[in-house]
Amino acid sequence: MRAVVLISGSGSNLQAFIDQINAGQLDISIELVISNKADVFGLQRAQTAGISTAVVDHKAYDSRTAFDQALIDKIDSVEPKLIILAGFMRILTPDFVDHYQNRLINIHPSLLPKYPGTNTHQRALDAHDAMHGASVHFVVPEVDAGPIIIQGQMPILADDTASSLQQRIHKIEHQIYPTAVKWFANGRLSISDGRVLLDGENSVRQLQSLDV
Ligand code: GRF
Repeated sequence: MRAVVLISGSGSNLQAFIDQINAGQLDISIELVISNKADVFGLQRAQTAGISTAVVDHKAYDSRTAFDQALIDKIDSVEPKLIILAGFMRILTPDFVDHYQNRLINIHPSLLPKYPGTNTHQRALDAHDAMHGASVHFVVPEVDAGPIIIQGQMPILADDTASSLQQRIHKIEHQIYPTAVKWFANGRLSISDGRVLLDGENSVRQLQSLDV
């Protein structure tokens, strides 16, 4: 299955896909990695893996619509079935989201619907939550609100800080994101009434408690 990955940063989730593809555990081909920033480490990771890269700099466009259209043109040039947002830090227009309906997925560092938006680790600490986690979801126009494919969770420890949570959440992300992509690639996911079904069954969001 042909895929495109959109990044804005370090690309550790991209690396998790690359590692699983190279290990023969994930049957997708990443045709292109696109970043909206030129100097990010994720682009180097792609190049090291022999994957084509492109930069579409949002600052070169005078509107979100123009930027998103440039992204669409770039993405569609390689005809992917799946579009993966992996730390892509731009809000996408409803037109962009509609263009890729049910084949655009994102990972968010919280147990959605808790804490959409930014600062999720500090917000979980401030709320004295017992658990924290990450969610993979289909993208809908409302930010961080689409149908959830899989979630991974872990306990918050007494001495956790936003930064220690972020590090452990990354480990969770590197497990659940390739799993979600595998399900998608194997045709196991469908959406009914705004919920994700795995093999036709209500997946109870596939909440997994992970030891990280
Ligand atoms: C991840 O924490 C993801 O949840 C958020 O952005 C971060 C990307 O990290 N959307 P990386 O670039 O994959 O290392």
